[in-house]
Amino acid sequence: MTRARIIGVGAYAPKRVLTNADLEKLVDTSDEWIVQRTGIRERRIADDSEATSDLAVKAAQQALERANLVPEDIDFIAVGTTTPDMIFPSVGNIVQHRLGCRRIGSVDMLAACAGSVYSLATGAQFVQTGKYRRVLCIGAETLSKITDFTDRGTCILLADAAGAAVLEATDEDRGIIDVDLYSDGQYWELLYQPAGGSRHPATHETVDKRMHYAKMRGSDVFKVAVRMFAESAERILTRNGFTANDLSLFIPHQANLRIIEAACKRAGLPMERVFVNVDRYGNTGAASVYVALEEALAAGRIKRGDLVLMAAFGGGFAWGAVLMRW
Ligand code: UT7
Repeated sequence: MTRARIIGVGAYAPKRVLTNADLEKLVDTSDEWIVQRTGIRERRIADDSEATSDLAVKAAQQALERANLVPEDIDFIAVGTTTPDMIFPSVGNIVQHRLGCRRIGSVDMLAACAGSVYSLATGAQFVQTGKYRRVLCIGAETLSKITDFTDRGTCILLADAAGAAVLEATDEDRGIIDVDLYSDGQYWELLYQPAGGSRHPATHETVDKRMHYAKMRGSDVFKVAVRMFAESAERILTRNGFTANDLSLFIPHQANLRIIEAACKRAGLPMERVFVNVDRYGNTGAASVYVALEEALAAGRIKRGDLVLMAAFGGGFAWGAVLMRW
């Protein structure tokens, strides 16, 4: 049976660091409140000249290098992003050209913060069916560009980064075992960007009303996220004959340390086997799971044969999980 295996991972975060102390100067908040309620201490913010594809290209180049591949080796590109450079063309399209890939297919997947698992799962399907041998999966965001830095409910959380993983077909008994993707549109108003699309195209009024920024009902998102996060982790494990005890490492979407802790408690996952870097990056949307995977590998937290689970949730709601044998 052909499986899709990750053979190279890369990540990139902008140089500029925004600390909680910096945010104290912008909104009525405190380092103590942010750390206690979210676990976030600092995050990276792109400068005015950096767009999502700039971050994506850097992460992808590192992933390709680590996979010992050149751009011509890639057969398809799947990008998860909520903050494309522009509405079209896609970030995938821009990355295809800037990397120097052949004229391959490329697509952006809009699944908010679940764009990480959506892009990885989509790439895996193309590889498993034998359609493509190598797929470049990317999660990239510049969420700071849709963040209202006068809204303390969102500006303390959202941040910028990109991560990438190269998938390759293998007949070995390792790689992606299963994927699980879900959505439930009834929750769309809990987290969304009102304007800029066809419902509210850009006008002076939409700009004046700050409708191009992300709006969130934080505590409602929190409750739904914990439940869905835990449920999808449990479901994918059970379906494949595993329990939380079999997991070597859980790499969750890094939105809020309290959400991660609550979901893991519910799913019976001890925090020693959970990778957390939200303290240094904040919520980087579709990039977060890829960036965490890159850091987990660099820290030696994953070795050959380990059972690794990734899960993410985001606006929409959209959520899901990817289970793999490393
Ligand atoms: O990637 C998926 C997307 N998003 C998420 O996963 C985010 C999910 N939600 C959260 O992370 C949390 O709900 C927040 C961090 C956004 C908020 O934490 P919370 O514990 O749910 O606080 P809350 O919204 O229930 O607000 C509690 C209090 C309120 O004051 P009052 O009404 O009790 O006086 C807020 O006005 O905290 C206040 N507050 C703040 N205080 C200081 C809200 N934001 C801040 C802030 N600094 N930044």
